[in-house]
Amino acid sequence: MTQLAPTQLAPVLTIDGPGGAGKGTISRMIAEHMGWHLLDSGALYRLTALSALRHGIAVDDAQALSEQAQNLDVVFAVENGAMRILLEGDDVTTAIRSEGVGNAASQVAALPPVRNALLQRQRDFYQAPGLVADGRDMGTVVFPDAPLKIYLTASAEERARRRLLQLQQVGEDARLSTLLEEIKARDARDMQRAVAPLKPAEDAVELDTTQLDIPEVVERIETLLAERNLV
Ligand code: C5P
Repeated sequence: MTQLAPTQLAPVLTIDGPGGAGKGTISRMIAEHMGWHLLDSGALYRLTALSALRHGIAVDDAQALSEQAQNLDVVFAVENGAMRILLEGDDVTTAIRSEGVGNAASQVAALPPVRNALLQRQRDFYQAPGLVADGRDMGTVVFPDAPLKIYLTASAEERARRRLLQLQQVGEDARLSTLLEEIKARDARDMQRAVAPLKPAEDAVELDTTQLDIPEVVERIETLLAERNLV
């Protein structure tokens, strides 16, 4: 009898793509529907960046940053149905979503020792009954055997528009043109880095969400899960 790979016993759905393609919301909704665990890998890079900023560590000090990443004192807690993230006991759920932390995260994420330090921490999220893993390299590096890999995209203009709405909801002000520049710069950095660059896995299903709303994307992915007998 052939041994089943662990990823077939408890499925992993990877959802990769650039920022603003809708990965976060879509991953959370599917994890909720399926009763699966959720890995928000971007949050780990954001937490490493925020921790570095708070401890006065430069965003290019690979050695010190990888130690920070290794020893991150983080708690992901669900409170009244909402996820709260605590860093060294301090609630940073909102703080890690700022543009400044996002940009620092993308610089920190380009350093191979930081990525290595976070690899096992990400794989530890893989538990029965299943996992939705949201990020940039979930299907290519962290869970290469995942039975369903999605690569979500949307035009840079649409992603900047969505980001502006998100920022306005948390009371931050921004200019659309500045956000578009930042999104393009972050895409370039994520796609061009030497280690784990942002790109679709060879066996990923690509979905362009520019013209799709969130329920339509969720439905398409859940149909694919059903077609592959993963639910
Ligand atoms: O997805 P999010 O915007 O929270 O990610 C913040 C940054 O972390 C990204 O711009 C990217 O540089 C980095 N990241 C990564 N690999 C992941 C998830 C995020 O390099 N799996």
